[in-house]
Amino acid sequence: MSTLPHVKNPLQDQLSFTRQAEPCILVIFGATGDLTSRKLMPALYNLMLEGLLPSQFACVGFARRDKSDDDFRQEMHDAVKEFSRTQPIDEQAWKNFAQQIYYHRSEFGDGQGYDSLNKKLQDLDAKLGTKGNRVFYFSTPPSYFPEIIKNLSDHKLIYDPDEKQRWSRVIIEKPFGHDLNSSIELQKIVSQYLSENQVFRIDHYLGKETVQNLLVFRFANSIFESLWNNNHIDNVQITVAEEIGIGTRGKFWEEAGMMRDIVQNHMMQLLSLVAMEPPVSLQADAIRNEKTKVVESIRPIDMNPDSFHKHVVRGQYAEGLIDGKPVIGYRQEDNVARDSVVETFVAMQLFIDNWRWAGVPFYLRAGKRCAKRATEIAIEFKEAPGVLFQRANKKNDPNVLVIRIQPDEGISLKFNSKVPGINAPIQPVKMDFRYGSYFGSSPPEAYERLICDCMAGDSTLFARDDKVIASWRIVTPILERWQEEKGSDLRFYQAGSWGPEEANGILTGKRRWRLI
Ligand code: BG6
Repeated sequence: MSTLPHVKNPLQDQLSFTRQAEPCILVIFGATGDLTSRKLMPALYNLMLEGLLPSQFACVGFARRDKSDDDFRQEMHDAVKEFSRTQPIDEQAWKNFAQQIYYHRSEFGDGQGYDSLNKKLQDLDAKLGTKGNRVFYFSTPPSYFPEIIKNLSDHKLIYDPDEKQRWSRVIIEKPFGHDLNSSIELQKIVSQYLSENQVFRIDHYLGKETVQNLLVFRFANSIFESLWNNNHIDNVQITVAEEIGIGTRGKFWEEAGMMRDIVQNHMMQLLSLVAMEPPVSLQADAIRNEKTKVVESIRPIDMNPDSFHKHVVRGQYAEGLIDGKPVIGYRQEDNVARDSVVETFVAMQLFIDNWRWAGVPFYLRAGKRCAKRATEIAIEFKEAPGVLFQRANKKNDPNVLVIRIQPDEGISLKFNSKVPGINAPIQPVKMDFRYGSYFGSSPPEAYERLICDCMAGDSTLFARDDKVIASWRIVTPILERWQEEKGSDLRFYQAGSWGPEEANGILTGKRRWRLI
């Protein structure tokens, strides 16, 4: 596809660029953690560079370690230098921006810490003109969420949602609960203190450009939507594969596993965007209503042992090679039990029992330490009747539309073509669109978009409570079954492969996992 100069997408105005972040103070709970250094501070820095942060703005890091504002600013400088998507960093711009960054030391459960926080924020309002508006970002382990919410409310840091002059919002990092009951419990606490329009549950996949483009791709084009159903589509494959292992997150991973870390949230978001009906408008709730309906229509997994193991496979990486270099197995990682049965790979087959998708299998696979990093959605169309053309005694390859979420972001369509020449055969070829070469500039990081949206009060790209709970409703019985099986069903795979052999067994008929 040829490279064109930057073309303005007519939907941009509605979907992307009318955000105006309002004056506010962002308070990050757990500000000394990895997420702040790797994602949040680089995102704020880049928003500032792009002129997307309000000029009346401050960021306050709230954490338990003792340090001064200057210590914190220095650490954040080093983090931005290492992790910013734009390099090298603009030292002068950072120096100015750093004056708007502060540190507040307190335990999460210490009431006095919230009183002094309130005082500090009010002083900053007077100094910077931040108008009393607050974003509280929960970047702590989830077990602290209830305590922080309650303290914020008790110390008048959460306002009545109907106040007109000022607002307070909270951003909650995943995981939102660890199973169905705990997510319902957490939601009860959240709704006791906050109204739904004050809650922004982050799933950073929704902030990715390519994920946002799914809506545009489906609903701003007529040719795909008319084929987007069980008359034409044979199966859908969603892959989230990573080369990396669990790194230093052994403790977290032992409690989470792949189902909770990726499938319940990121993959369910992708699945619902691919399968949803057209929303009645681009309003947050119109879109989220349709997405929720999809998850609510997923057929519960059949728990009959025979059927269960045909539809759900879990695996754990053993030692192997990544990029030609030896890597250890999951059980050898730090803070992981030597006999752990936690899954680092999941493959499953789901059906969406609605009119559009009846009978179309959705195959999901997610793995750490896979052969390569690739997140994509592949739509495999039904084969054309092999009446007229055949390829070397085979039927023609089915058309496949692949939406590459990352890396190498783009969309490709495979179709059959005649090879030039007399008596020449038929061969599948690919039409390929690549974001990088077409649009040129590097897209903003997901966190930039999401933080900006929260400051603008737009919750379209955040998860709503009913959808989160509906996803837990699908995955919790599977987690419970795994617990009962005590690892007897766990299959090992070599690091650097595409998961355990058994994952191939869940595709029925002539279907195969795509070779990526
Ligand atoms: C996070 C998971 O939500 O997403 C990580 O906790 C995973 O385990 C990460 O590596 C993947 O994000 P991305 O943006 O690199 O696909």
